[in-house]
Amino acid sequence: MNLKHKDLVSLASLSAEEILLILETADSFKEVSGREIKKVPALRGKTVVNLFFEPSTRTRTSFELAAKRLSADVINFSPGSSSVVKGETLLDTARNIEAMQADVIIVRHPSAGAAETLAKGVKSSVVNAGDGWHEHPTQALLDLYTLRERKRSFSGLKVAIVGDIMHSRVARSNLHALAKLGAEVRVAGPPTMIPQGIERLGAQVHYHLDEAVRGADVIMMLRLQLERQARGLFPTIREYSRLYGLNAERLKLAAPGALVMHPGPINRGVEIASDVADSLSSVILDQVSNGVAVRMAVLYLVSGGQ
Ligand code: CP
Repeated sequence: MNLKHKDLVSLASLSAEEILLILETADSFKEVSGREIKKVPALRGKTVVNLFFEPSTRTRTSFELAAKRLSADVINFSPGSSSVVKGETLLDTARNIEAMQADVIIVRHPSAGAAETLAKGVKSSVVNAGDGWHEHPTQALLDLYTLRERKRSFSGLKVAIVGDIMHSRVARSNLHALAKLGAEVRVAGPPTMIPQGIERLGAQVHYHLDEAVRGADVIMMLRLQLERQARGLFPTIREYSRLYGLNAERLKLAAPGALVMHPGPINRGVEIASDVADSLSSVILDQVSNGVAVRMAVLYLVSGGQ
């Protein structure tokens, strides 16, 4: 079995079987990162280009490591020192990169739909590394991988996603995937940060954090996205933290053995207390480690899995 498309643009467009295929393929790549020589020849001779129009620590590095561990050649494209500053469009930029025989283009862009546009406009495989408020599929896949590693099954798992749901591409990708895999998803945040109609994606909506956390098996905290947010969605950061920040007291309301997740970067003392971020319940750095194996699986599968 392989993915139905040459690209990975969203989890909304994948079936549960395709999502599980990626997680199972990641299982076989995970041990590579523990070896002394962290390399397999799976993508030898292939070229992967990182095309990031927004800052990134985890995703860009993780894709680069994943591609190198598969023996691909990797180019990191920097828009600031490219012809983008002379007015070249995203699609023309990608077509020029494709003309140099890039096999996979990984794109992060501030506009929702940018990855889809590229996927339709080039023959190379396109992987979405986050497009505006739309989706961040590989982040959700590594979240799912980490959940599956700790909790074994998604069926009936109570997952609370907390914070700025409106501006979160991570929340949107997770909502699509968790619903397909049978989890019970709750979203919580201030009314101004919860998009209307989110229930249609299968989520229960809570405006009080304690309600969402009570009995939850997993609490996924989101960063307050001050750079995307229109002003005035919440009075002050201190108020936000008091009402929607996860602290040790609130964590006690969760189910025994509950996991705390965060896609990063974390704002310590805003959406998550420092002691919770560093606690035994936190799997935040496991998420980052698993990201490499999951992205190896994605690169391998979009390249035809051969
Ligand atoms: N989680 C995530 O996308 O982090 P970066 O912005 O550092 O890539």
